Amino acid sequence: MNVPKHVAIIMDGNGRWAEKRGLPRSSGHLEGSKTLEKLAIHAMDMGVEVLSVYAFSTDNFKRSEEEVNYLMDLFIKMFKTKFDKINKRGIKVFISGRKVNLRKDVLEAIENIEEKTKDNTAGILNICLNYGGQEEIIDGAIKLAKDIQNGLDVTNFKREDFYKYLYHYLPPIDLLIRTGGELRVSNFMLYEMSYSEFYFTNTYFPDFDKSEFNKALFMYENRDRRFGGINDKKGN
Ligand code: FPP
Repeated sequence: MNVPKHVAIIMDGNGRWAEKRGLPRSSGHLEGSKTLEKLAIHAMDMGVEVLSVYAFSTDNFKRSEEEVNYLMDLFIKMFKTKFDKINKRGIKVFISGRKVNLRKDVLEAIENIEEKTKDNTAGILNICLNYGGQEEIIDGAIKLAKDIQNGLDVTNFKREDFYKYLYHYLPPIDLLIRTGGELRVSNFMLYEMSYSEFYFTNTYFPDFDKSEFNKALFMYENRDRRFGGINDKKGN
């Protein structure tokens, strides 16, 4: 099987999942966090090396204070206790995003989970939190500008070289999944998704279980990736 090395998920539809059941939006986020825990382990079992997920965008601060605080408390709880299975499975956790505007207890929980899992080698779960794709490119450009000021020669600087300036040094995204029915990328990992395959599904994230994930892998296996060139098998 041709398994994508880096899969990214825009985990959308938690709120609607809850509303459909007459529950508060927070129940949808809680259920989504359980789905994520299972999916991370399943993805690595299937041979995926990196799973990136959009947990909280820089724009999500526009939501009610109650919802933002609920999500921040949920992240802390998950990182502190519920990620034990992820750690035991040997998965390294990275958190990508801006640290400004985050509460001190959230920053501590981020530091703890990254430290706890730093020697793990079975795969990477990259959680995008207070994250924006354009912001990541801007922050990377600022780091690069500093290196140029310090004498870095950029005469032969290639697009691959810019990956080092992003929040974490990860491979490009092969497969981008968006749950919840919307057909947009919402400022997620813009640099990394330049040649990724897209898989959109109406399924709300809490219901996006292992078999739904496998459907996306199956679709990917059947896509013809040409990277702007011509596929030898079909091109002549
Ligand atoms: C989008 O659904 C989802 C979010 C903004 C939060 C995603 C967070 C989780 C799945 C929890 C993850 C937990 C950890 C530990 C990283 P929405 O609220 O926009 O749904 P809607 O479009 O139906 O309203």
